[in-house]
Amino acid sequence: MLEAALKEVAAAGDRKTLQAVRVRYLGKKGLLTAELKSLSSLPPGERRQRGQQLNQLKEQFEAAIEAKSEGFKQTELQAQLSAGSLDVTLPGLRFPPGNTHVLSQITNELVDIFAHMGYQAVEGPEVEDEFHNFDALNIPKHHPARDMWDTFWLSSGEVLRTHTSPMQIRYMEQHAPPFKIVVPGKVYRYEQTDTTHEAMFHQLEGLVVGENITMADLKGAVVELSRALYGPRAQVRFQPSFFPFTEPSAEFAVFWEYADSGKGKWLELGGSGMVHPAVFQAVDKAREEAGLPRAYEGKTGFAFGLGIERLALLRYGIPDIRYFYQNRLGFLRQFRG
Ligand code: PHE
Repeated sequence: MLEAALKEVAAAGDRKTLQAVRVRYLGKKGLLTAELKSLSSLPPGERRQRGQQLNQLKEQFEAAIEAKSEGFKQTELQAQLSAGSLDVTLPGLRFPPGNTHVLSQITNELVDIFAHMGYQAVEGPEVEDEFHNFDALNIPKHHPARDMWDTFWLSSGEVLRTHTSPMQIRYMEQHAPPFKIVVPGKVYRYEQTDTTHEAMFHQLEGLVVGENITMADLKGAVVELSRALYGPRAQVRFQPSFFPFTEPSAEFAVFWEYADSGKGKWLELGGSGMVHPAVFQAVDKAREEAGLPRAYEGKTGFAFGLGIERLALLRYGIPDIRYFYQNRLGFLRQFRG
């Protein structure tokens, strides 16, 4: 039986046939299985020897099957290797590195420009209390000036900051003048979104306080910024405006020239002004309550705030502000630094 079985194993040309041979001998109704079963009907004297014989036979048979099966594996592998021959000169998979988001790039650029003018960059919380976002900035409760900012109110009574100006207060509560700071960050407005409006966007706030700081210093800072951004010939324009926390207040714009054509248009970049005395008073009061010395009497300063998205939209001719936040890689990768 072993000879016949080994012959059949040797003759098997594929896995299926080999499996069939195994079943023929070792399956439930297999020839060898039947022999093994019949052991129990033998007289005890014969059983031992016969059992040993059959088990040896079974082992040899199984070893032959195993060897044959291993052979198939090798042949299959060889076939696979020669079929899909490996081209080691093919380029590997590309895992492109990420890049800094275009808005972060512009923010970094702005912070850098101001750092060269001696400004320190600081950041503040996006969830603000009413005091810092409004009251201390001379925007009292129920005052119509609050309508300038459509506000997300939280159930806690706090707000998502509507501008970066609350950091003016936070900084002055902790630091005495003189200083120059810029504050980049996210701000929120309860607004319908469209191509130029989002409920969340970014601002850069500036605040300079010291002795005899004047409107000329404000103008100088904005002119320097514009030149750093748009070149030495950049023109800046100030127009009277109103903000509760600055007096006088001015909007500033730069002239955006189309490719040296002499033609272009004025682009509103942001709001600015001289820090309102009421702001200094609110700060000194808060400092006093916190056990710190008053520090803002007789001081002057200017502040400004500009929209970062606006700069990016204009610089790159991006048609829709919402592209910044959709995280489409095709869009984002255009701004590889
Ligand atoms: N916080 C103002 C705004 O968001 C901008 C501003 C900042 C104006 C600082 C004057 C001074 O509209």
